[in-house]
Amino acid sequence: MQTYPLGQFSVGRVGFGAMQLPGPGVLGPPRDHDQAIAVLQRAIELGINHIDTAQFYGPNVANELIREALNPYPDNLALVSKVGGDRDEQGNWLPAQQPDDLRRGIEDNLRTLAADRLAAVNLRVMGAGDDPSSPGEVDRELFDRQLSAMIKARDEGLIAGIGLSSISLEHLQIALDRTEIVCVQNAYNLVDRTSQPVFNACLEHGIAFVPFFPLGSAFTPDNPVLGHPAVRREAAKLGRTPAQIALAWTLSVAPNVLLIPGTSSVGHLEENTAVADIELTTTSSGNSTTRPERFSRRRPSPRCAGPLSASPRSRRHAGPRSTLASSAYPPANWPEGHRGSPRTQPPGQRRTRRPTRWSRRPRA
Ligand SMILES: NC(=O)c1ccc[n+]([C@@H]2O[C@H](COP(=O)([O-])OP(=O)(O)OC[C@H]3O[C@@H](n4cnc5c(N)ncnc54)[C@H](OP(=O)(O)O)[C@@H]3O)[C@@H](O)[C@H]2O)c1
Repeated sequence: MQTYPLGQFSVGRVGFGAMQLPGPGVLGPPRDHDQAIAVLQRAIELGINHIDTAQFYGPNVANELIREALNPYPDNLALVSKVGGDRDEQGNWLPAQQPDDLRRGIEDNLRTLAADRLAAVNLRVMGAGDDPSSPGEVDRELFDRQLSAMIKARDEGLIAGIGLSSISLEHLQIALDRTEIVCVQNAYNLVDRTSQPVFNACLEHGIAFVPFFPLGSAFTPDNPVLGHPAVRREAAKLGRTPAQIALAWTLSVAPNVLLIPGTSSVGHLEENTAVADIELTTTSSGNSTTRPERFSRRRPSPRCAGPLSASPRSRRHAGPRSTLASSAYPPANWPEGHRGSPRTQPPGQRRTRRPTRWSRRPRA
């Protein structure tokens, strides 16, 4: 399998995202515990050595499954997590963005995974705009303090590398002025390329770009990626599945792409891992190409008008983010306290961040 550096690790370009392992809504235990364990163990058998997780998947559940299935961990396994979010008793997704929250998140991850050190931890920036999946404006003062907390954790050996997630180009530039960044995790797939400038900067700096929602996520019932006509036609032509085409497309964009498709199924895991050798040949229009851009030049469908448009101007109107992200992650139950643009309001008028509810939850 082709590899790419992830900080001190060299990982296969196809990894695994653990967000689909907990129960529905990324909450509570899996519907089928043994199946979840089997997925993780099969991932290692298939040669996967990059697993993405988060304390707030479940919460606790994804990490505990990983520990149960894989501990003691293979030496070459890069366990990557993220901090900056939290869940309440109802499963609402809460921001936990203060430096103390980040530190606590790192320590919680280490404890529930029973790991001494994580290959990388992503600082998951929670958006300041109406769309919590988009990074919004940089809160420079807070971001500096967040970076200091992450640098301290790395310098103390809790994490091997610092990653960033859901960031803008400005976040990346500020961070790179201060320290090494080993990976960036932003939403990106063949119908949502809002993060292309960040992606390009990562490529330029040799930073792994780890797209989340490579298959369009589990949050959209009418999946715009797997249901894309060009994807379906290419799949039929090559005798592959739409998921494999979508993943092969994402891999083909640049060598610094590290995939972490999420699944709760061994069959899907096996499919998703067998994509490295797929050569995209034709689109539904019959043009021979291996260039992923082909998918973006198709006439926009009503459902995916923004995502398929090549022009930033049209993206602004019917954009992929509004289609995908607003109904995706975090889903509609994002707390009212995080909506709006608290960081863009004058400090005196900023909403107070809700306290985290972590401590109220029973810990395993
Ligand atoms: N940094 C962040 O803020 C952030 C946000 C979201 C996710 N992530 C990470 O990114 C990873 C990937 O994102 P994601 O899991 O949300 O979405 P995704 O990988 O785009 O899609 C997952 C969905 O695709 C389905 N699926 C997987 N393989 C399939 C196949 N071969 N055929 C048909 N359907 C298939 C899954 O269902 P089945 O379970 O039935 O296979 C699930 O519904 C996550 O697992 C997580 O680790 C990070």
